[in-house]
Amino acid sequence: MSRLRCDQTPAWGALQACFNAHGQAFDLREAFAADPQRFANFSQQAPYVFADLSKNLIDATSQALLLDLAGQCGLAQHRDAMFAGESINSTERRAVMHFLLRNTAPTQEERAQAASKNIANEALQVHATLDAMLAYAEQVRADAAITDIVNIGIGGSDLGPQMAVLALGEFATMGKRFHFVSNVDGHELAGVLAQCRPHSTLFLVASKTFTTTETMTNAHSARRWFEAQGGQDIGRHFAALTTNVAAAKAFGISTSFGFWDWVGGRYSLWSAIGLPIAIAIGAAGFREFLAGAHAMDEHFRTAALERNLPVRLGLLDIWYRNFHGFGSRSIAPYSSALRRWPAYLQQLEMESNGKRVDMDGQALPFETSPVLWGEPGTNGQHAYFQMLHQGTSVVPVEFVAVKKAGHDLPGHHSKLLANALAQAQALMLGKVDAGGHRHFPGNRPSTFLLLEQLTPASLGALIALQEHRVFVSGAIWGINSFDQWGVELGKVLAKDIEPRLANGDASGLDASTAGLLARLR
Ligand code: F6P
Repeated sequence: MSRLRCDQTPAWGALQACFNAHGQAFDLREAFAADPQRFANFSQQAPYVFADLSKNLIDATSQALLLDLAGQCGLAQHRDAMFAGESINSTERRAVMHFLLRNTAPTQEERAQAASKNIANEALQVHATLDAMLAYAEQVRADAAITDIVNIGIGGSDLGPQMAVLALGEFATMGKRFHFVSNVDGHELAGVLAQCRPHSTLFLVASKTFTTTETMTNAHSARRWFEAQGGQDIGRHFAALTTNVAAAKAFGISTSFGFWDWVGGRYSLWSAIGLPIAIAIGAAGFREFLAGAHAMDEHFRTAALERNLPVRLGLLDIWYRNFHGFGSRSIAPYSSALRRWPAYLQQLEMESNGKRVDMDGQALPFETSPVLWGEPGTNGQHAYFQMLHQGTSVVPVEFVAVKKAGHDLPGHHSKLLANALAQAQALMLGKVDAGGHRHFPGNRPSTFLLLEQLTPASLGALIALQEHRVFVSGAIWGINSFDQWGVELGKVLAKDIEPRLANGDASGLDASTAGLLARLR
């Protein structure tokens, strides 16, 4: 697709001029003093998620220019191409249609639209597979003999389900334990197996490709353990979640739930990869999870760009990365249930947008994905928030807080929420009447996302919001957010090195690798 690269648009030049003129001097405290409507103007309610963007280094001018940039980069057209099922993952010649997985009850109109876009067939397959998978999830939930669910998968086949099962622990009504084994480090699997018995364990081998070394190594070891411990019925104790049902069969797994190449690994928790979530929260809960995400899809697809939350967040990401030069974003979920949220977002954003070339493979002269990192609050406050407040680099912080607690322990939730508000306030206001070590410069930006309650639906919406926001910045940068060639080289080199650890052959290796190899032998 030939279109103007973002840094060649008039809006980019105007944004640069705006930043040069006012960007560095922009002061949040002055902005609030000058505009009593600032909170209202820079916050919005999207499906299930309220977002306060007012403590960011933006004003009406920069926001308007960012919207111009979106227009000049064809953001809406690119979004519509995704929703129309076009092959926007150009390097892999694939459509990107994880949104189809979340439309559990399409209206007549949506069915007609899908048919006109030639994706009706996919939509039908989605429903048949979802029904089968949810029936299986209910069967497992009802099976009191199964006490332990072990998900074996890595990357998108681990991070999403793990994050969501933890996040929705309160809705997991069945007395089952969930374990997630991802690392090829055998300590992880060994630690889980030590807690399990073969007759009461269900292994879910989750792998889009069913070829990933870590997952296959763990799956083979799990099967060996199962058989060595006297386990009998692999059909009952192993299930596969994969697009490669034939490979799962060859492995000896007869119960498989499939999905499709148009579901990217890091977007796959809505598919069969979400089975652990469905077992945890039940079929109805999983449908609510999908429905929450679908509500966000509809918002992204239809809301005007200036009131479109994924668009506003994605454009803010561009403003910070390319004009302010901020290299990272700290993720601060004030919810221990969301403790894997930062890890989940790391894959979503950095595997999607950590690219240095455009769609045509041409090197880009500007920065792309920031580094994402973080821990739940309040823990982060007692670790690295020092640097956020008084360090030499400015790091935008993204808070997530939940209004209603899911427990009734007195005093905790108000302290948690007060801390979230206080940190965002302290970052912005600083403490400028003190000098030296006690001086806080303030004017440090943050975004505050607020959920009424952490439920399957609100979590679904929160995740879809992030997916679309990553789509927005990727589309502006003109990169393919849906491939991940950068993970391949290490995989190839590891295959070469593994036999050398046994045979000591260091021929052709660089001196450092050869030296380390010798030490490891
Ligand atoms: O190596 C990266 C990656 O391909 C991720 O994109 C993916 O989520 C992960 O590996 C696992 O892949 P699979 O589900 O095919 O095992």
